[in-house]
Amino acid sequence: MRETERLGRIPAYVFAELERKLAEKKAAGVDVISLGIGDPDTPTFPHIVEAMQRAVADPSTHQYPSNRGRKEFREAVAAFYAKRFGVELDPETQVMPAIGGKECIYHLNFAFLDEGDVALAADPGYPVYTGGPLLAGAEPVLMPLVPERGFVPDLSAIPEGKLDRARLMFLNYPNNPTGAVAPDGFFGEAIAFGREHDVLVVHDNAYSELTFDGYVAPSFLAEPGAMDAGVEVFSLSKAYNMTGWRCGAIVGNADAIAHYWKLKTNVDSGLFEAVQVAGAEALNAKQDPVKGMAQTYARRRDLVIGALREIGIDIEPPKGTIYVWAPVPEGHTSASFAEEVLEQAGVVVSPGSSYGPNGEGFFRISLTVPDERLTEAVERMRGSLA
Ligand SMILES: Cc1ncc(COP(=O)(O)O)c(C=O)c1O
Repeated sequence: MRETERLGRIPAYVFAELERKLAEKKAAGVDVISLGIGDPDTPTFPHIVEAMQRAVADPSTHQYPSNRGRKEFREAVAAFYAKRFGVELDPETQVMPAIGGKECIYHLNFAFLDEGDVALAADPGYPVYTGGPLLAGAEPVLMPLVPERGFVPDLSAIPEGKLDRARLMFLNYPNNPTGAVAPDGFFGEAIAFGREHDVLVVHDNAYSELTFDGYVAPSFLAEPGAMDAGVEVFSLSKAYNMTGWRCGAIVGNADAIAHYWKLKTNVDSGLFEAVQVAGAEALNAKQDPVKGMAQTYARRRDLVIGALREIGIDIEPPKGTIYVWAPVPEGHTSASFAEEVLEQAGVVVSPGSSYGPNGEGFFRISLTVPDERLTEAVERMRGSLA
């Protein structure tokens, strides 16, 4: 069987490879603790499950969904954005459901990139920012995120020869994998850049609800001019423990959303309406359980940061996300460190290099395992690496 050249240009998806290694070890009888993928270990909150149970029993959810989305879902997203971020959205034209952030980001590449076009992608970054453009026949151009700049790209460093072909820019704060948050003024800079160079700014907002130490993440759309320059992809996956449900939304520029809609009507049949009903419940209900999750992740973050300190890795605690991003010890590459941790401690961490060249020299720990397992994982790492 021959895959396309486009597919050949991208590596196996990072977590597909991690899952393979994990299965190998498990088959060999090792009690592996995976701190690889960021998939919440706690169940979806009961009120959302109950809303889903009722919605599934309602025949009005059983037919093909419209890609435009159910009115109650679009209104819930708009109400949430108004209350939480102070962003006014027209639920008719500025909100549409997505089958998770991943689907949305992938498809935006097909709606906005022709062959030879450029997508500006954070490096390290969520793999779809580079895999999506490649699969669309376009070129991802990496924007380095380095600690010295607080993991924020230097937009003035994007080469001229790439800039004139750039159509999309992917940003994400709070950031996966680095845990960085957007400094004041950065969204404004990105908006000015997008408008000047006719680049659609796509802000991937997967983690705004999971922040710590009193930090409250803004929406990109709260910045003046954002509605002209871009869209935000909001995901319910992490904050509401709904990764398996595939529920998100694209919000912002109405023209961009209309193009995304046109693409999707030709590709898929929208988000299961019962999931939209449950998603609306998640957004409309009191947000206390989400705040509880943020506290859980903060506690786990501190546990990991403390243990890393004891093995000589001293880092600033991240203000958001469900990850800890840390430099590998001297003498290691990302891959050799991940390999050693797996072999010696039976713990899976993600090698930073799998998020892009600027991830080399780092590793990522996901905080999505119960406290006892996380404690055991860091104990094992401490034992084998100290
Ligand atoms: C930055 C970022 N964007 C998007 C996603 C995908 O989220 P979803 O489950 O909504 O597809 C993830 C998931 O890990 C992520 O880290």
